[in-house]
Amino acid sequence: MNAEARGADAQSADAHGAEARGERSLGVEVRPFAVGPFRENAYIVRAQGAQRAVLVDPGEEPARLGAAIDSLGVRVEAILITHCHFDHIGAVAAMARRTGAPVYCPQLERGVLEDIAKWMPPGFGEPESYSPEHTLAGGEHLELAGLDIRVRATPGHSPGHLTYAIASHAQAQAQAGAGADGHPRAERPARALLSGDVLFVGSVGRTDLPGGDRATLERSIEGLMREWAPESAVHSGHGGATTLERELQTNPFLEELRAALAAGARSGSGARESSGAGEAAGAS
Ligand SMILES: [Fe+2]
Repeated sequence: MNAEARGADAQSADAHGAEARGERSLGVEVRPFAVGPFRENAYIVRAQGAQRAVLVDPGEEPARLGAAIDSLGVRVEAILITHCHFDHIGAVAAMARRTGAPVYCPQLERGVLEDIAKWMPPGFGEPESYSPEHTLAGGEHLELAGLDIRVRATPGHSPGHLTYAIASHAQAQAQAGAGADGHPRAERPARALLSGDVLFVGSVGRTDLPGGDRATLERSIEGLMREWAPESAVHSGHGGATTLERELQTNPFLEELRAALAAGARSGSGARESSGAGEAAGAS
């Protein structure tokens, strides 16, 4: 194991701690790598012990990500993008070339990946654009690398933003199987949520960039809360990991949602107005 891989492993342990232990019950292993000046989290995700993996949001530092992949001995079978802000996609082309894996990109943001420089502020280098093999709009069900991946549209931070809700194939089958009463065992299954810049530890995604909208972001977060179990791990685009439950209980930007869910007063699709409760953190 080289120094970079050791560093990545240490970072994984530091950043995820108790959450990583919880992930084992989901049958997935999620390794974060904070890359580039924005410390954007790229992730290698695999079923526990598997030799196949998916790579999520390779934003920068392709050599480091490649070394980690080699050290783990995994074959990357897909590159998944949550959204196309430049800090999340700068190494997509390099990693696609290195791994040979197809790239899955939000449909609405494909044009950004295909012409990154047009959308980047000056001074951040010359990123390599890429034409993705697949586009996703949300609602898709992917089976890749032994993982069961539900794709959900979670706009608000960016217009085409996606969240990937991941379990191992075996765990997903257990969740879907009927219990003794004939009903599915898991009405709200637990998943590892690769949720980009939707939700952070104690914060939410910024909505002041083009295509951002605060009320839309809140509806996206509400949708995740309603669909997935509270213990679901949240692997954000920046910072450490958390859970839906922890954020629902403590996140100061979710006070209205907390109250509404507690009261059971709101439907999953109801339109909401922005709370205006402060500004979100500066993650991009
Ligand atoms: Fe972003």
